[in-house]
Amino acid sequence: MNETGYGLLKGKKGIIFGALDDRSIAWRIALACKREGADFVLSNAPIALRLGALNALSEETNAPIFPCDVSSEEDVEQLMVKTREHFGGGVDFILHAIGMSPNIRKKKEYNDLNYSWLNQTLDISAISLHKILNYAEKKDVLNDGGSVVALSYIGAQRIFSKYSDMNDAKALLESIARNYGSRLAKRGIRVNTVSQAPTKTSAGTGIKGFDGMYTFAEKIAPLGNPDADECADYCVTLFSDLTRKVTMQNLYHDGGFVTSGISEEMIEGLLKLYADEE
Ligand SMILES: NC(=O)c1ccc[n+]([C@@H]2O[C@H](COP(=O)([O-])OP(=O)(O)OC[C@H]3O[C@@H](n4cnc5c(N)ncnc54)[C@H](O)[C@@H]3O)[C@@H](O)[C@H]2O)c1
Repeated sequence: MNETGYGLLKGKKGIIFGALDDRSIAWRIALACKREGADFVLSNAPIALRLGALNALSEETNAPIFPCDVSSEEDVEQLMVKTREHFGGGVDFILHAIGMSPNIRKKKEYNDLNYSWLNQTLDISAISLHKILNYAEKKDVLNDGGSVVALSYIGAQRIFSKYSDMNDAKALLESIARNYGSRLAKRGIRVNTVSQAPTKTSAGTGIKGFDGMYTFAEKIAPLGNPDADECADYCVTLFSDLTRKVTMQNLYHDGGFVTSGISEEMIEGLLKLYADEE
């Protein structure tokens, strides 16, 4: 890896949603985008900004912070207006790295969901992508040839019980990405989701059983789990001009987990574990 980058995003402008602290995948993506020469605005919910951590990233990357609670249509609209004012024009890329489930936070099981919280999960974690793209179009914020990436998880395809209603949210998120991708393609804009392996962040480790999911993926994936910086490098390629015909895809960034059955290491471990029972 070239420490000074490859200039892949030189001259490009973007919006980065979802950096909370320095472990956030969006935080690492912001640093990688800066390294590659991009300028961007940072956005997060006002409640998250109260923690104050984002100021350090803002200073380091010379990026302004525009508050936006994505559950509010008005906030999303205002964010687009402010972004256009700031750049004096549109942006070339948008990162959606937003996820939240009150049911998971409050330890509600899948067969006992609070439906008002389920609505919040779907609204914040998935429908927000629709709102962002809708208002980006209406306010003429997304340039022709641009690229949109939303972070997803394999729970959209396979059941991970501890991921609860976020499995449903990610399935909806990926569907919205495909639907918007088909509509924006006429302007050369691509929309993809990156399905990232379990990553040790605030949202990730907040899930009961996260350590087990992390270790399971790590042991099965032939290349092991990619970390947030590796996810950032991958996202940079998707924002760059090197991937202009990649759209409406859910792209696994998981060290080969999705197509692996079981690893030799796992088989040996399981055999030892169950040896006494035979
Ligand atoms: N960590 C993992 O294991 C993992 C794996 C695959 C995908 N992802 C996805 O990556 C994305 C980023 O998560 P992360 O792991 O970096 O954790 P994180 O906690 O750092 O990021 C989640 C972000 O969502 C923001 N958010 C929550 N509610 C919001 C609202 N109403 N308005 C605006 N922003 C709001 C939070 O403030 C936070 O910045 C999420 O979509 C997550 O589902 C994470």
